[in-house]
Amino acid sequence: MALQTWAENLLSLSLSAGGDRLIHTPMLRERVEGCESFAVRYLSKVTAVATQGFEENDAAAKAEAHRALFALYELQLCRPDDEAAPNQHDPLLYSVRNLLERAWLAAERAALVPCAAESPARTVNTIARLCKAHDASSHRLFDYLAVQADRIAMQRFFASDSALNIRFFDLLALSMVGSEEFTRPELVQNLWDESGRGNRNEAHVHTFRDLLDTCGLTQMRFNQIGALPWQGYAGHNLFMMTALSREHYWKLLGVMAVTELIDPASYEKVVHGCRRLGFAGDAYRYYSEHVEIDVVHGQGWLQNVIVPLIERTPAAAADVVFGAQLRLASCEQYYDCLLSLLEQTQYSMA
Ligand SMILES: [Fe+2]
Ligand SMILES: [Fe+2]
Repeated sequence: MALQTWAENLLSLSLSAGGDRLIHTPMLRERVEGCESFAVRYLSKVTAVATQGFEENDAAAKAEAHRALFALYELQLCRPDDEAAPNQHDPLLYSVRNLLERAWLAAERAALVPCAAESPARTVNTIARLCKAHDASSHRLFDYLAVQADRIAMQRFFASDSALNIRFFDLLALSMVGSEEFTRPELVQNLWDESGRGNRNEAHVHTFRDLLDTCGLTQMRFNQIGALPWQGYAGHNLFMMTALSREHYWKLLGVMAVTELIDPASYEKVVHGCRRLGFAGDAYRYYSEHVEIDVVHGQGWLQNVIVPLIERTPAAAADVVFGAQLRLASCEQYYDCLLSLLEQTQYSMA
């Protein structure tokens, strides 16, 4: 295909479809360099979508931006034999990511009430207090799953949970890259637990896949991702953005801590719902295991990662807390959206 036609086609696509095409273009760099003005025109299109989505709060544009970001993050962890792999460090793709991330973070920063940087002890208290007070930590979604959801709604919850759960090992591994040495014992312990403490069958990705198998959802992961609402992408993207960028590493620690702190109480309700619906205990052990282990992990992140980090680098406190706030906000918007989707499914099928 002539270069000009290739460029015009790409520019005519939506941001997410065009982004996906770009990521999978063989010899991408050569094409972009051979096509004068393409990069400038493409980036101005990205800027327009970012402005519409994040500054003007247009839901469709926000969805486009998050879908595009999701694909850009997946590129960073794709298989070596994926045709996209040679494009991993393409400068145009990095520019797209930067534009979208900056607009997204600016909007989040404007929406959240900033917390002052504090001492290590006060910082972890702040995070614990934020979690306790936030709707995300006792969301109605989990009461619904505990006592009301039917089997189909519960399975839809599993499916929508799958993108992040299956990626969690990589996220933990990424949190170890460039970590401070004194945080490593805790990070390694987390990764060891995540990988089943030496038992492949108990690796968390494995136990979650078992659950998907039981429900006949094994093949669904990618289809399901296609069906996620933008709030689902945003939650996933928050982990990936903070895990993949050095400048956001301290935020990642806040994101991770909140995840471990709020999941046990929510997952206890998922377990209750699974029992009520007659799932075999072995099938949902992914959730029952996390009810126990994440209580330990939550304290570990606070006391063994965040406290010593802030003791040595007080400037990290503000970012760690901001990460915690970002995670709570993204959970809440995702849970709100998922609850209304699940309720609609259940009642439309009743
Ligand atoms: Fe886990
Ligand atoms: Fe955990």
